Amino acid sequence: MAIRNIREIGDEILNKKCKEVTEMTDRTRYLIEDMLDTMYEAGGVGLAAPQVGILKRIVVIDVTGEDPYVLINPRIVESGGEQTGSEGCLSIPGKAGIVTRPNYVKVAAQDAEMNPFELEGTELLARAICHELDHLDGHLYVEKVEGDLTDVVPAEEDEE
Ligand code: NI
Repeated sequence: MAIRNIREIGDEILNKKCKEVTEMTDRTRYLIEDMLDTMYEAGGVGLAAPQVGILKRIVVIDVTGEDPYVLINPRIVESGGEQTGSEGCLSIPGKAGIVTRPNYVKVAAQDAEMNPFELEGTELLARAICHELDHLDGHLYVEKVEGDLTDVVPAEEDEE
């Protein structure tokens, strides 16, 4: 397991469309483990493979810190409602912006064993799913932001 370098806005890999995962390999298993480690290390609630430079349709999400989801080839099959709130991205450090998203989504995906499953989320989980899936098609939240980006204080400073 290893912490990978997180690509930041301006890196053109973040604007590219990712490819479907067709089979699970050791290489992809290591990638998923590294994505989880990298997300936790950075204090994020989600991370998509292109953010660590890999153009594969894989995201990891954990909005509580103890309930990680691995979504391979995810697609939203149902959505509803609306929420407007602050959103950030590990690829745009120190910034946040207001984005409107569905308040409910159902996503169909495959897990780390490539078994199909569905996941439903509301509120922050729904927001994280939408945000991470956008990454797989080369989109960043700044394309959807209402108003200006604001500066946020890094979490590390709270711990000192
Ligand atoms: Ni992001």
